[in-house]
Amino acid sequence: MDSKDLEAEIHPLKNEDKKVPANVGNPAKTEESSKGSPRQPRLSRCRTVAFFLSLFVCLFVVFVVSFIIPCPDRPASQGVWRVNYNAAVTYDFLATEDINRDRIQDVLFLYKNSNGSNNFNLSCTDEGFSSPCTFVAAVSGANGSVLWERPAAQDGALVQCSVPQLQGGRTSSACVLVGRPGSFVAVDLFTGETLWSHPSSFGRNTSVLSSLLQLPDVDADGAPDLLVLTQEEKEVGGYIYSGSTGRQIGHRGSLGVGGTTGSLVHVTRAGAPYILFPCASSLCSCSVKGLHETATGSGSPLKRDPRWEGALNASTPGPVWRSPGALRYLMNVPGKAGEDLLLVGAEACVLADGQDLTPRWTFRVAQVFRKPILGHYKPDTLTVVVENGTGVDRQILFLDLSTGAVLWNQALPSLPGDPKSASLPTADHRSAFFFWGLHDLEGTNQAEPGDTQHSLYMFHPTLPGVLLELANISANIMAFQAVLFEPSRHAACVLLTGPASPDTPGTVSVVKHKVRDLVQSSRVVRLAEGRPDSDQAVRDRFSRLRYRSEA
Ligand SMILES: *[C@@H]1O[C@H](CO)[C@@H](O)[C@H](O)[C@H]1NC(C)=O
Ligand SMILES: *[C@@H]1O[C@H](CO)[C@@H](O)[C@H](O)[C@H]1NC(C)=O
Ligand SMILES: *[C@@H]1O[C@H](CO)[C@@H](O)[C@H](O)[C@H]1NC(C)=O
Ligand SMILES: *[C@@H]1O[C@H](CO)[C@@H](O)[C@H](O)[C@H]1NC(C)=O
Ligand SMILES: *[C@@H]1O[C@H](CO)[C@@H](O)[C@H](O)[C@H]1NC(C)=O
Ligand SMILES: *[C@@H]1O[C@H](CO)[C@@H](O)[C@H](O)[C@H]1NC(C)=O
Ligand SMILES: *[C@@H]1O[C@H](CO)[C@@H](O)[C@H](O)[C@H]1NC(C)=O
Repeated sequence: MDSKDLEAEIHPLKNEDKKVPANVGNPAKTEESSKGSPRQPRLSRCRTVAFFLSLFVCLFVVFVVSFIIPCPDRPASQGVWRVNYNAAVTYDFLATEDINRDRIQDVLFLYKNSNGSNNFNLSCTDEGFSSPCTFVAAVSGANGSVLWERPAAQDGALVQCSVPQLQGGRTSSACVLVGRPGSFVAVDLFTGETLWSHPSSFGRNTSVLSSLLQLPDVDADGAPDLLVLTQEEKEVGGYIYSGSTGRQIGHRGSLGVGGTTGSLVHVTRAGAPYILFPCASSLCSCSVKGLHETATGSGSPLKRDPRWEGALNASTPGPVWRSPGALRYLMNVPGKAGEDLLLVGAEACVLADGQDLTPRWTFRVAQVFRKPILGHYKPDTLTVVVENGTGVDRQILFLDLSTGAVLWNQALPSLPGDPKSASLPTADHRSAFFFWGLHDLEGTNQAEPGDTQHSLYMFHPTLPGVLLELANISANIMAFQAVLFEPSRHAACVLLTGPASPDTPGTVSVVKHKVRDLVQSSRVVRLAEGRPDSDQAVRDRFSRLRYRSEA
């Protein structure tokens, strides 16, 4: 019995074979069954052929896709790269843009030197400047190789990149530079070629205020236009330029007395643009339509907002809203119905409705010397990050943008010259935050004059009791950005360092560090007694964060 079973297991087919002769002994029966379906063998053969043919086609397609058609080459991105310039000076400007169209963000910055790097033999005199002059440079985000550079100003400049341009029917993008003293240049963002260049028409004793402001299209050429605010003696003047040719539109307009830095263009819900600027403990406004009309002496296609002209009395340049204390920063922030205004003053932060300027909430802090940044502390809810105080007394406050409630606060002593904070959206609809501060958070040895290490900290709302110290930098930092270099792939920090004073040239460096690499070598700082996770477990959680592009 046993051996028979075993044999049956080893030779299962043999047993079947043995059964066949039993049927053979009954020929009538087999004939009958084959007679019942005479076409079946051919049909099943057809089916078999069809099956193998389709299988073959499938395999062939898989083969073609996986072996013959090559994968698009993804340029390998280096985790760290550094670009150095000797005997140079740099300015507080960093921008990122995909310039060589490899789907990795590239980095733009300014430096002042007597000649550019070796492979671009353009000299200052080629562009009509005396040596040394300010170059605008673009370097590849993947490996730091220089994509283009060009002399663009004599001595530093205000820069606005991604200004749309209409060049012979196709749209392009430019960086517009208002140089000191008196030049106005646009370079093509993708090639670095000069698109147009004019001497600026500002008066001798004029200082240019704040940044270049983008206006809606006022000269009806299809491209947005530009506004430069200047200060002459005590008066603030406004110059409008065509964004696509750089030509001045009309004459200088006046915004009245007052106004320092921090102006912005606010578009009301009726679509009317107004220039807002701080003036002696008030918010002042000036209608762009009015400015355009006085500059050109003719009509303007822009709109006025009846509510602003009536109730707010914004028909003439002047105060539209009285603030508690002097205003320092103005920000357009997303609101429920269009843009609202965040007004940051010496004594309070106020969120004002973007249409009628009624305060939604007021948060009293004592000293804000930095423009707040936005991020997400709770999923999909905007948070304002305010820095209260300076030095050892600095405190970071997270405020809910819709209510003004404090969500998180942390004392984080700072050093003079710390760059501004940054945030990056993460895949869980929150943000990772980056702060600069003292290495020693208790600030016990901050009195040491030689100790000027700026430490970079990272924070994520899912671990509210932990800060990661990502890096220590002892060089003078001119600009810093946290950037998502590739969509959902890698986030990195970009640092621009250089001499503190423009009179003493030194080494200018642009460095990129991948955030994930910094996290692995970071120091874990515990703010509160919390879960006893090991330092490595905390680093691993930060390492696993995925970032998303700004919506
Ligand atoms: C810059 O120019 C000077 C002389 O004009 C030359 O000695 C130097 O090598 C140049 N540097 C670069 C990076 O080309
Ligand atoms: C750069 O130098 C090369 C030869 O050294 C010359 O052919 C070329 O015209 C120069 N380019 C510019 C923009 O001066
Ligand atoms: C850097 O990357 C670019 C593409 O992004 C490539 O063309 C270039 O050859 C690379 N340079 C170096 C030095 O690896
Ligand atoms: C410029 O300002 C200086 C002092 O601030 C003054 O001496 C000079 O006359 C002014 N020049 C003009 C052209 O207004
Ligand atoms: C608006 O301001 C002008 C001058 O500043 C003044 O003459 C006028 O009465 C004001 N109108 C209202 C409604 O306040
Ligand atoms: C801001 O800091 C000042 C001192 O630097 C302090 O008096 C004030 O209470 C702080 N404000 C908040 C809201 O914590
Ligand atoms: C920063 O420097 C301090 C000592 O000055 C060191 O303890 C800490 O580990 C450093 N942090 C990083 C991230 O290297």
